[in-house]
Amino acid sequence: MSVHIGAEQGQIAERVLMPGDPLRAKWIAETFLEDAVCYTQVRGMLGFTGRWKGVEVSVQGSGMGMPSAAIYTHELITEYGARTLIRVGSCGALTDELRLGDVVAAIGSATDSNMNRVRFDGLIDYAPVADFGLLRTAVDVAAGRGTPITVGPILAADAFYTDRPDLYDSLADYGILAVEMESAALYTIAARHRARALTVLTVSDHIKRGEKLGAQEREQGFTRMVEIGLDTAIA
Ligand code: ADE
Repeated sequence: MSVHIGAEQGQIAERVLMPGDPLRAKWIAETFLEDAVCYTQVRGMLGFTGRWKGVEVSVQGSGMGMPSAAIYTHELITEYGARTLIRVGSCGALTDELRLGDVVAAIGSATDSNMNRVRFDGLIDYAPVADFGLLRTAVDVAAGRGTPITVGPILAADAFYTDRPDLYDSLADYGILAVEMESAALYTIAARHRARALTVLTVSDHIKRGEKLGAQEREQGFTRMVEIGLDTAIA
């Protein structure tokens, strides 16, 4: 096992979906995968491997925020050989154009995290970006399924609760679609190890309009996103 994942070598697939919530990992495994087996319960951060359309896929909870997501991304890639990592999660919309339940694919991830400032000695504002091939596949998969998908940059924020909502307005002015809390770490660490990464999100709330998705719409929205994630992972 690695420090935070209790799997044996070979128990985790090369293709991994990464929801933040470990119980969403369980729901994905039970709802979508055939013969899903739980390979880790360390710290309650559940991970499963099963098959989607006959291809081995794992689903690993990443936790909330970049320090947590960075741990799981790092260990999945460097200890278990994961090569394709697709975050599936929720986001708060910043732009007027997005509606609750919309699916977003993050082409790039602006961030207020200090992790990359430390990484590059404060000298470079590194631009974490999605793998282009995966992004193109996700767009094609969504089109094939008749699911509208909005592609654009997002914000990966350290704090869920902010004292600076004015910054969200400025970011929206610059085309940032939505806010979540993990994608910049995922993209950066995947790039470091030449793995492929993508973030696909469902709009669960609208920051400016103060709207929130209801429980049933949440599940429907997440289902569409997970199916896009799974089809993209095996393409
Ligand atoms: N994920 C879902 N909604 C969010 C929000 N409002 N801020 C950060 N992450 C989120």
